[in-house]
Parts: sequence; C-alpha cells; structure tokens
Amino acid sequence: MPARKRCVTGIEGLDAALNGGIPEGNVVLLSGACGTGKTTLGIEYLTYGAARGENGVYFSVTEPYEKLLENMRAFSFFTENLIEENKLFIIDVSLLYNRLGLLGEDRTIEDIDTLLWALIDTVRALHIKRAVIDSITAICSRLAQPSKIRELVFNLSRMFTHFGVTTLLISELAGSAGRYSTYDVEEAVSDGIILQEDVERMGNMMRTIQIIKMRGTAHSRAKYVMDLSTEGALMVPLLKWGLSGE
Ligand SMILES: Nc1ncnc2c1ncn2[C@@H]1O[C@H](COP(=O)(O)OP(=O)(O)OP(=O)(O)O)[C@@H](O)[C@H]1O
Ligand SMILES: [Mg+2]
Repeated sequence: MPARKRCVTGIEGLDAALNGGIPEGNVVLLSGACGTGKTTLGIEYLTYGAARGENGVYFSVTEPYEKLLENMRAFSFFTENLIEENKLFIIDVSLLYNRLGLLGEDRTIEDIDTLLWALIDTVRALHIKRAVIDSITAICSRLAQPSKIRELVFNLSRMFTHFGVTTLLISELAGSAGRYSTYDVEEAVSDGIILQEDVERMGNMMRTIQIIKMRGTAHSRAKYVMDLSTEGALMVPLLKWGLSGE
C-alpha cells in the first residue's frame, strides 16, 4: 500500500514526532487548558501551509477577528500578507451565525446542521487544505441537546476528511486528568489527539505537548516541552530540556 500523504505542520519537533506530519485528511483534537498555546499553534500550522500553496482557514468562535490578528502580529511566523493574497482566511463564527440567521443563545441540531454546511461550503469554495476550529468546545456548548454532540463532531469530521482537509479541532479542557475533551465524545470520533498541558516544575509553569493518538501513522508518545517564543512553538524532548534547562 502506498504511504499516506502527510500534512507537514511546520511546528518544530512535531513533524519528526509524527514521522513526517499529520496523515492528510485527519481530524485532530488539539486539547489543552487555557493559555497553553492552542491558538498560536493552530495559526502557525495554517500559516506554514498557506505559505506553501495549501490554503488554510481559521474559524474563530471565541476571539474576535481584530483581537486575534493583534495577538498574532507579535509572532514572527505570522505573515499577514497571506490574508490579502487569499491564502489564509480568518472567519469570525459569530458573524457567520448572524448571517445564517441563528440569533438565539441555544442551538438546535438543525441550527448546527446549518452551521456545519456553511463550514463545508466555505472549505470547498476557498479550496481549503487545512482548517482550524477554535474551539469545537465553544460550538458544542451552545448545543441544547448534548446527545447530539457526537453526531455533530462525527459529521464534521467525516465531511472535512472527505474533502481532504486536515483539521485541528481545538478543545478547551477544564483540568480533570485523563480527559481530552469536555463532552467526552470528541476524542472518540477524531483521528488524533494532541494534548497540551501545564506542568509545575520547581515553582514554574512549564508547557508540555504529547501525541496521545494519531490514526494512520506510528508516532512518539513521549511528553515534550513546548516552548513558546515570538518565533512560534518548538517541541523539545522533556529529558533534554531537563538537562539544559536547569
Ligand atoms: N509574543 C509572544 N511570545 C511568546 N509567548 C507569547 C506571546 N504572546 C503570547 N504568548 C504566550 O502565549 C499564551 C497564549 O497562547 P494562546 O492564546 O495560543 O493559548 P490558548 O491555549 O489558545 O489560550 P486560550 O485558552 O485563552 O484560548 C499567553 O498566555 C502567553 O504566555
Ligand atoms: Mg485560544
């Protein structure tokens, strides 16, 4: 069988840990507590692809467009020109809700279905190869019928995979160990899970990152330190960091 094509993330250390990148078309849950660097990693992933001919879209549910842009301008990897060149798209989901006439606080499954088709239409019309949804938790939290969350994530994953879009679903974790998603279903239907955590070490908070699962490839299961600098995210093996970082 031919090897599956890879989507190279461009995050230093992550592609090596994944044996070359995320298998193309996978839908991956990027889970972590607040401030662990999920958004930054997502935008760096999209920017890397967009600069190499793979159009990317970031669906923002939790942060308004201007604020997000302001935060990203601080990072050297962020190339704002890619937006003007129609290679990188940032879409404010609250505006999408308004455009679709979905104005109430709670959503029915029909509303979510409407949103799902709007996301799919966007991805097709813009020839998207990489997508980030930030966050799937925020979309699910407005769903009045929690039993439908599995269906939503399943349908979304299936359609994005069908169109060959390698997707990061950002999942906001509220802390309890051993869980990768708020509703406990997102992890079962996604092809991969990447976990970002805060670990205390000698009084300092340290960011870590670990690949929990990734369908379609062998991968490292080690915990890495994730260093966030103005240049972006960098994964360093935990042991190596311990030797040089103390
Ligand atoms: N220019 C920068 N250089 C290095 N680190 C930065 C820079 N700007 C922000 N950070 C760090 O990144 C963190 C936020 O990262 P990011 O927004 O990607 O995390 P997040 O997991 O998406 O957070 P949230 O849960 O709030 O959405 C900040 O708390 C800060 O520590
Ligand atoms: Mg964020």
